[in-house]
Amino acid sequence: MLNVNDTIQQNRDDQKFVSIIIPTFNESMNIRDLLNQIQTHIPVETNVEIIIVDDNSPDGTGHIVEKYIEEKMNMQDYDLKTESQSKSDFNKNISIKVIHRKEKAGLIAALVNGIGSSRGKNVLIMDADFSHPPEVINRMISELKKQPNCIIVGSRYVRGGAINGMPLKRFLLSVGANFIARHGLSLRNVYDPMSGFFAFPKHALEDVEFNTNGFKILLEILIKKKSDICVKEIPYTFKDRKYGQSKLNLPIIFDYLKAVWKLYRYGRKSKRQDTQSEKRRSVRFISKAARFYTVGASGVALNYLVSILLSNGIFGSLGYLQATAIGIAVSVTTNFLLNKFWTFEDKNVETTRFIKQYGMFVGCSSLGILIQFLSIYLLSESGMSYDISLLLGVSIASVSNFLFNKKLTFKENIWE
Ligand code: GDD
Ligand code: MN
Repeated sequence: MLNVNDTIQQNRDDQKFVSIIIPTFNESMNIRDLLNQIQTHIPVETNVEIIIVDDNSPDGTGHIVEKYIEEKMNMQDYDLKTESQSKSDFNKNISIKVIHRKEKAGLIAALVNGIGSSRGKNVLIMDADFSHPPEVINRMISELKKQPNCIIVGSRYVRGGAINGMPLKRFLLSVGANFIARHGLSLRNVYDPMSGFFAFPKHALEDVEFNTNGFKILLEILIKKKSDICVKEIPYTFKDRKYGQSKLNLPIIFDYLKAVWKLYRYGRKSKRQDTQSEKRRSVRFISKAARFYTVGASGVALNYLVSILLSNGIFGSLGYLQATAIGIAVSVTTNFLLNKFWTFEDKNVETTRFIKQYGMFVGCSSLGILIQFLSIYLLSESGMSYDISLLLGVSIASVSNFLFNKKLTFKENIWE
């Protein structure tokens, strides 16, 4: 949807070391104070631009910033005219600009907009409500300088980090969301992937397109970053906002869950592409066969369980023939579903194709049974003992079962 790549190119000439991007919606009580404080925490020699991205805040945040910038310019002019360097505390290497967006269209969208028009080699993102202490910026900048290939995450959950004064409900939400992200998205080595306070080199994002909504842009960055980019967490203490209200609400929680789902699928897709291109055919073949037989074993267990439960009175007291028939039907169906979605990773759920495949699967399984009978018959007739022919018969049948389903039901080449 949105690509930050173009601007990486476009802005190379007039580059700053870091662009600090601050999204605002109704932060009139905080913004002036925050801008003042941020500037005192930027190392003097560092070239920085501060970008406020305001979504037309009804409380006039955008205009307040506009006025602030004007005052700063006047003050600089005054300093230049009087040749006094000390009149203001303002660092001349810091520029401030504001992006006015037409309406409130979400935090991630605002941030992507800000990143898109930034001139920094690096980007630092923070909230406008003092939850992210300006004094940590200094440390973040020095980390960026030390580790130009790392995303620096302000973290509440590493040693030294903390949360102050967050309402219990918010805290629980945050811990829950954190758990989902870390375990669901395999981000176990990042302790605070939900942080809204972090910095990164723009080259970490080349070719990244953002397509989630909501609050958690860092999650998307962590999932989509280039693989040689590392993550470093530095502790900070999150404080509840000074003034105003949090914009976190139910729709944003839904956005979050949707985002996790999208990123989960994204992660699986790229992993699959990796395995397809990297792994040898033999490895792919064997891993599919292993899944196929795991499914087969689960089918045997389920078949047994269902038949027993239906015949002994816990879920019914059917005759053993009926119970066996239902047991078979259930396990054939679960086998089919598991093999379709898991073993052969076929996500197509179009109805006619689905039914055809199901029929084909049943056909191939019956063929397997036939082959088993036939080979046992031939082997024992040719003088082999029954236990050996049984063993061979079962093996032949299960191999052909796999190959037939692979080729006929799921339309794959045998050797792939
Ligand atoms: N431009 C713009 N547009 N800014 C927005 C919007 C929007 O739609 N929604 C929120 N903001 C701004 C706020 O003004 C604030 O500066 C910042 O984004 C974060 O919004 P809050 O409403 O203060 O969020 P929060 O405190 O609930 O959540 C923060 O902390 C979480 C950690 O618990 C955020 O930093 C989250 O990203 C973070 O995960
Ligand atoms: Mn906040």
